Amino acid sequence: MRDVAAPIVEIQNVTKAYGKLKAVDDVSLAIPRNAFFALLGPSGCGKTTLLRMLGGFEHTSTGRILIDGEDMAGIQPNRRPVNMVFQSYAVFPHMTVADNIAYGLKVTGVKRAAIASRVEEAIAMVRLDGMAARKPDQLSGGQRQRVALARALVKRPKLLLLDEPLSALDKKLREEMQLELVRLQTEVGITFIIVTHDQEEALGMASEIAVMKEGRILQIAPPRELYEHPTRRFVAEFIGASNSFPCEVLAIDGQNARVRSPLLGELTVERSAPDVTSGTLIIRPEKVRMDFSTPEPTPGEALIRGTIDQIAYFGDLSIVYLTAEDGSRLQCSRYNVSRIAAPDPRPGTACTLGIHPEDLLLVGD
Ligand SMILES: Nc1ncnc2c1ncn2[C@@H]1O[C@H](COP(=O)(O)OP(=O)(O)O)[C@@H](O)[C@H]1O
Ligand SMILES: [Mg+2]
Repeated sequence: MRDVAAPIVEIQNVTKAYGKLKAVDDVSLAIPRNAFFALLGPSGCGKTTLLRMLGGFEHTSTGRILIDGEDMAGIQPNRRPVNMVFQSYAVFPHMTVADNIAYGLKVTGVKRAAIASRVEEAIAMVRLDGMAARKPDQLSGGQRQRVALARALVKRPKLLLLDEPLSALDKKLREEMQLELVRLQTEVGITFIIVTHDQEEALGMASEIAVMKEGRILQIAPPRELYEHPTRRFVAEFIGASNSFPCEVLAIDGQNARVRSPLLGELTVERSAPDVTSGTLIIRPEKVRMDFSTPEPTPGEALIRGTIDQIAYFGDLSIVYLTAEDGSRLQCSRYNVSRIAAPDPRPGTACTLGIHPEDLLLVGD
């Protein structure tokens, strides 16, 4: 009996070396069934290499990969319960939508009658009804990507691998396809593993995210935890924006640390992980309170003075860049919640910034 509580993918101490370079460096990770799992990290950190090893397109140098409990060593890509969707949506230009989707079933010897109904089902799933007879050049980029998705899903893999699947689409379409992918994943109940360098994409879609750097995984967590509780400075700075303050750790007390920061004074803050005994204080820009009137600290709040350098207006929000009294650079974001609110302050304006210790986190460097 298959254990449904067991992870669908187990990666055990996997390394992939190209000469001296370790593209993937001793990665271990388990992916639960039905997850929408994202591999996130800067370009060149090893995401594609890891995905290609799952698909069987690359061998591991050392380590093991199990899919649904089965060791994948020596198993060819077409024998794995896996399908891959690439960034450049590989569809056959001379075939219709329906033929493109049917192709993979034909070559694996599925019966003709069964093919027709499965293709129809897949077309409905990706919402391409009425377009079965079109050729790819009669479709938009987003529609072609749906064909590529249908081609992969029609084979009912246990695992769908997506390598930067939306990066060729424009912003609006990308947002639409993000929602669509989440809907599809929920509907088909297949585990999706998506590779992306786009943090918003990962945050908005994934149930769990693994952040990679230089072949290694730094943290695996659901989106909210990754944003509000990054364990390392790299993760904090890669996911969203953050302000950081150097500090000295005076004492450790369970989950907390007593710290001294030249700018913020002495504070008790949360530590990001049990092994973090030194590091940097971080706070997200939206959690910094900006005030132009006489400073009235709320209990426990640290107040610092700053001067506005620059403002970036994005419509829904404005990001204010400031220099603090000690010369350090900070940013603070403000939602433009009312159409008739006062305009953004001008560069050169003096202000006070309020920082609550509970919004600070001590992260490891
Ligand atoms: N076939 C290869 N031969 C040599 N080096 C490679 C090969 N494929 C990838 N690399 C290197 O491995 C590292 C990770 O690449 P990749 O997995 O494509 O990163 P990502 O997808 O995160 O951008 C990079 O430094 C890249 O240059
Ligand atoms: Mg890549």
